[in-house]
Amino acid sequence: MREIKVAVLLGGTSPERDVSIISGKYVTQGLREAGYIVKPIDPALGINQPENEEELFISAIRETPPTEEELARYSNKNVIECINSYLFDDIDVVFIILHGKWGEDGTVQALLDLRGIKYTGSGVLASAIGIDKNMSKIVFKHHGVQTPDWFVIRKNKIDIKEIQRKIEKTFSYPCVVKPNDQGSTVGLTVVKCPEEVEPAIELAFKYSDLILVEDFIEGKELTVGILGNMALPVIEIIPKGGIYDYYHKYTKGATEYIVPAEIPEKWSTALKEQALIAFESIGCKGFARVDFRVKENGEIYCLEINTIPGMTGTSLVPKAARAAGIEFPELVDKIVKLALEK
Ligand SMILES: Nc1ncnc2c1ncn2[C@@H]1O[C@H](COP(=O)(O)OP(=O)(O)O)[C@@H](O)[C@H]1O
Ligand SMILES: [Mg+2]
Repeated sequence: MREIKVAVLLGGTSPERDVSIISGKYVTQGLREAGYIVKPIDPALGINQPENEEELFISAIRETPPTEEELARYSNKNVIECINSYLFDDIDVVFIILHGKWGEDGTVQALLDLRGIKYTGSGVLASAIGIDKNMSKIVFKHHGVQTPDWFVIRKNKIDIKEIQRKIEKTFSYPCVVKPNDQGSTVGLTVVKCPEEVEPAIELAFKYSDLILVEDFIEGKELTVGILGNMALPVIEIIPKGGIYDYYHKYTKGATEYIVPAEIPEKWSTALKEQALIAFESIGCKGFARVDFRVKENGEIYCLEINTIPGMTGTSLVPKAARAAGIEFPELVDKIVKLALEK
């Protein structure tokens, strides 16, 4: 068979840009090991891609996401120009490994649909719902996937006193305030008392025009990767101190991961079942990762679905796949094959 040409889309314009670059570096290597011809492309650079692909990559993810000023160097106009350019003329399939807005949210998927080029993972609608935590939770609830109680606040309707009253009337403190469509725990606060509500809301609104106030679920942090139509072994996440924030997600040694999770068999069966329902209810394709919290009594709460989960060497889906006997090159190969079947 003729060799298959894959473009790996990495980087992008969201605060998860650095994570995406590292994911993209690993995906590029893995696909080459699997025998594909691979062209890594950062759409945020437009059509001016460096001649030496090494210039696309960074060596490590920093402790904090890129600043607003750093991100201002990249534009979505570049993304449109890039995807609409000759760079994709000879590409058989695109491996999208952009995380967050303008990549994981259906926009890049729509551009590729318009160009008639196949791509990995979920389509436009599932991507758009998946990035929208509020919409995802509505769909989860409808399909019997339990999710923490929540309400939303819109940017033009902020009344702090009213919000504090609402929290006290519903799930009380601690609660979680987070942007509706941001990943990597960026803009998220665990709010412990009424005084903390205002700063938490201000922070979350920096990242999104819609924010979620959610019941805080005390318990274990567990996540389930999905590949094709199969749930991978459950992973338990234990951040060493504090919550599972940007620092704990991307700093080596800051978090302990147990895979397969040492939990009762009943829990892991239920988690895998719930993860698959969550995946299917939204209409996801190819791969994804579903994040959960589980109370001591075994009650499961789905936090969100990630339609383009991290794929760095230390990321969770690759770890779970490895526990299932699937090494990284085989994992990315399977994801591409699923895309070509579409
Ligand atoms: N309702 C909640 N209860 C307890 N912890 C939460 C809750 N929501 C979020 N968290 C913590 O914050 C992290 C990030 O939240 P999540 O909803 O998965 O958003 P994202 O990963 O997209 O930033 C979770 O992994 C968890 O540690
Ligand atoms: Mg998450």
